[in-house]
Amino acid sequence: MNNRPFKARLGANENVFGPSPRAIAAMQEASADQWMYGDPESHDLRAALAAHHAIRPENIVVGEGIDGLLCYLVRLVIEQGDAVVTSDGAYPTFNYHVAGFGGVLHKVPYRDDHEDPRALFRKAAEVGAKLVYLANPDNPMGTWHKGADIVAAMEDLPADTLFILDEAYVEFAPEGTSATVDIEDPRLIRMRTFSKAYGLAGARVGYALGAEPLITAFNKIRNHFGMNRAAQIGALAALEDVAYLAQTVGNVTAARNRIAAIAQANGLSALPSATNFVAVDCGGDGDFARRVLSELVARGVFVRMPFVAPQDRCIRISAGRPEDLNLLETALPAALTAARS
Ligand SMILES: Cc1ncc(COP(=O)(O)O)c(C=O)c1O
Repeated sequence: MNNRPFKARLGANENVFGPSPRAIAAMQEASADQWMYGDPESHDLRAALAAHHAIRPENIVVGEGIDGLLCYLVRLVIEQGDAVVTSDGAYPTFNYHVAGFGGVLHKVPYRDDHEDPRALFRKAAEVGAKLVYLANPDNPMGTWHKGADIVAAMEDLPADTLFILDEAYVEFAPEGTSATVDIEDPRLIRMRTFSKAYGLAGARVGYALGAEPLITAFNKIRNHFGMNRAAQIGALAALEDVAYLAQTVGNVTAARNRIAAIAQANGLSALPSATNFVAVDCGGDGDFARRVLSELVARGVFVRMPFVAPQDRCIRISAGRPEDLNLLETALPAALTAARS
């Protein structure tokens, strides 16, 4: 801990480009009406999301970010001792919910820095899992699969296992990354968020897409007034601002390319990414990457890194604004020198 604010905040996969100005204005306007509870059905937002995805509102539940929805889902499905499958080193918050509700986690390794859907589904069959989790694109590596390949791998998904497909970063990914599935397919539930491409992480708005009976089941247990009123209004305005989303995706693509160029100029390699962050291979082991990370942090540049070998040879850098990446560009050579000495 250096007890100083960071100069560049590039560690939490936040969207530093911020929300649409239309979303900010809508939330500002809504602030005077915060004396009212938010709509417990998130009616207007669900209606807009239904139109956006060409499905019915009955197939959508809105919640307090993907994390909130993962918590509800685990609470719905998992009883003491139930098996759950995820990848070793994947997005950790899901695991905390599983542990909290008494589930037993089984993990499979990444393959070539990618989560491995077929291995996940085979492990689910082996342990009789109630849930199997996969993020596409993945955090922390930023790698991705084609949606069609995930759907094809589902032939190995056991009949009694529910597949959670976390698409938190999918708006940044190439065409064809989101899985095209029958919305009433009871074998899977997909998660989306306004935290990443829409720049509203602090507002806490996410949603799940799935078969109507499963989506309806959330109503039995979810926090009825959990959705902040202004956040619902802001998310709706953000969804409608298609041009701003495209601008953000362009900014993030440019930032990813710049991070890759900075890495290369320092003799490091950046993994291809379909997210708003880039995993940079520091060329050594986890201890070396940890030293690079702490030297960057000491220079005011906040970055994070994967927890598990061999992915922990990398540091994970969020797509920053040009001024943030200038700081990274200045700090990285010195951080590398210090880490090597
Ligand atoms: C894969 C993945 N899923 C979910 C989340 C959390 O999303 P939310 O802010 O909607 O809870 C993150 C945040 O970093 C993430 O990386």
